[in-house]
Amino acid sequence: MSQCERSALQDARVYLEWIRRQGLLVPRDELEAAMASGASSPGGAGAQDASGLPSAPAGSSSPQAPARFAALRAEVEACRKCALGYQRKNAVFGVGNPKARLVFIGEAPGATEDEQGKPFVGAAGNLLTRELKKHGVERDEVFICNILKCRPPDNRDPLPEEIAACEPYLLEQLRLIGPQMLCGLGRFAVMTLLKRQITITKIRGTWEHYEGLPLFVCLHPAAVLHQPVNRPLFEADIKTLCEAYKRGAP
Ligand code: SF4
Ligand code: URA
Repeated sequence: MSQCERSALQDARVYLEWIRRQGLLVPRDELEAAMASGASSPGGAGAQDASGLPSAPAGSSSPQAPARFAALRAEVEACRKCALGYQRKNAVFGVGNPKARLVFIGEAPGATEDEQGKPFVGAAGNLLTRELKKHGVERDEVFICNILKCRPPDNRDPLPEEIAACEPYLLEQLRLIGPQMLCGLGRFAVMTLLKRQITITKIRGTWEHYEGLPLFVCLHPAAVLHQPVNRPLFEADIKTLCEAYKRGAP
């Protein structure tokens, strides 16, 4: 199997897993047909069959990707798959370029984000935005989102069942955006993405992988607000990341 076929098959698996986790029932023969066409259409054709079900995943190269992205946003904004859906003011889908080469992934919205329905718009977010700008990177050219789309009460840590309910949205976002690289912001986000315990101070500034994409491990900007001694580390991380982004490779 070629690299291209392998990645198409992986796309199909991610998409089918997303459908499964949505609780949508798809007959087994349709699943198998979609798997087969996912493996044999390297461009990710995204064609629809008579039932309107995509017969192959629509990646960012598909003409259907913008419509799917808008539909996904609407789905997240109405989501009640976990208890947080009943407690939030606004779901926070994410902001930025739906074709971004770089996607930032934080943990979950805070109070300001919940109010505004946008990620990283509070004090920590402003620090991130300023630091990117120093390197000539604007918020609207990248995409910024979180693992959880709704705010946990009192900013408590996300629960495993909340992550399990919400992570499929992130996977689908990444599939539709098709970025070159990712940046995990803070210990909790990176641990959740890597599915292992980490010591953020040990692996910050290095590259890992999530869903086959390079994942840069960055200190959370809030760590600078809580402990100013972290500022040079955060600044160094953002510099390393922006240089990789401009090069187009880690
Ligand atoms: Fe849905 Fe995610 Fe919000 Fe839970 S946190 S209600 S899964 S969008
Ligand atoms: N911290 C996060 O992890 N995400 C936000 O959106 C804001 C603060």
